[in-house]
Amino acid sequence: MSFSIERYKEESRKLDTAGIDWQAVTANPLSKGDLFCLHYMMDIENHVPLYLSHLLVTRACMDPILTAFLACWNYEELWHGENIGKFLNLYGIKFDTQDRIANVRANLGFQNSVSLLSTMLGSWLLKDFSAVYLTIGAINELSTLTGYAALIRKSGHPVLKDLLGRIIKDERRHFAFYFNSAKEWLTDNEKAQRVDRWMLDRVWVPVGQGVKTQEQVDALALYLFDDEQGEEELLGIDEKIGRLPGLANIKLMSRALYAARERRRQNPEWATRLIENEEWAIAPPKKSPIGELTTRRTHVGAAIEGT
Ligand SMILES: [Fe+2]
Ligand SMILES: [Fe+2]
Repeated sequence: MSFSIERYKEESRKLDTAGIDWQAVTANPLSKGDLFCLHYMMDIENHVPLYLSHLLVTRACMDPILTAFLACWNYEELWHGENIGKFLNLYGIKFDTQDRIANVRANLGFQNSVSLLSTMLGSWLLKDFSAVYLTIGAINELSTLTGYAALIRKSGHPVLKDLLGRIIKDERRHFAFYFNSAKEWLTDNEKAQRVDRWMLDRVWVPVGQGVKTQEQVDALALYLFDDEQGEEELLGIDEKIGRLPGLANIKLMSRALYAARERRRQNPEWATRLIENEEWAIAPPKKSPIGELTTRRTHVGAAIEGT
């Protein structure tokens, strides 16, 4: 698996959706679990610009190769979220994408600022911050594409298969960048390897956690991976990440699945109830109406002066 930043810059573009049979979206039904996962995935794809804002204040961004990658990567991820939203809208689920994104962000509240400041501080204190960040990037991209493949399998929906199959191709390139960059940083760098492993064992959480609650993360993990094939796929992610220098036999994704199973064992309704109760709507924030947090102070749909 190789990666060339020059080639990536040349080839990076908006997700090609030509030929997707959008009209057939309603021809096949989706389960509540499929819909729960799609909302989760859309929200996390749409969260990328905020994640990026955390990275742009770290020492990792002294690297021009990394910033070139991030510039293209952010744009590609935008179209993943947009197209999953379009798919859901066409399936008949009504929401305004911009309102939903604004609500997700507003609900993060103060926690978002704390996280931003601590990432910034941590990166300047920790010389090998990049090793940790790049490894987490590799795990996130690989688990995202594995999740999409699992959802294709679970849903058996042909249009979703086509759409997610195209997104997976982007995610593979993203994974290749992060994995190769992490490998480069960690090779012959024992101190970075120790820091990386220590941090991953203690601070790593599955992609989306923080934006989503523990129970929501578990609902997605148990729906997609709580069978023999799913568990094998998660062990496969651990095995691939374990090929990075200093990370042999690391267990992250499989450990997260076992922890989710344990929480459900203690409370049989855990996670499943979110799917059964169709809890994928995003409530508006209690404080700070989104109008105060965005430039869109006029009511959606209201005529804008001068138009
Ligand atoms: Fe994506
Ligand atoms: Fe990605």
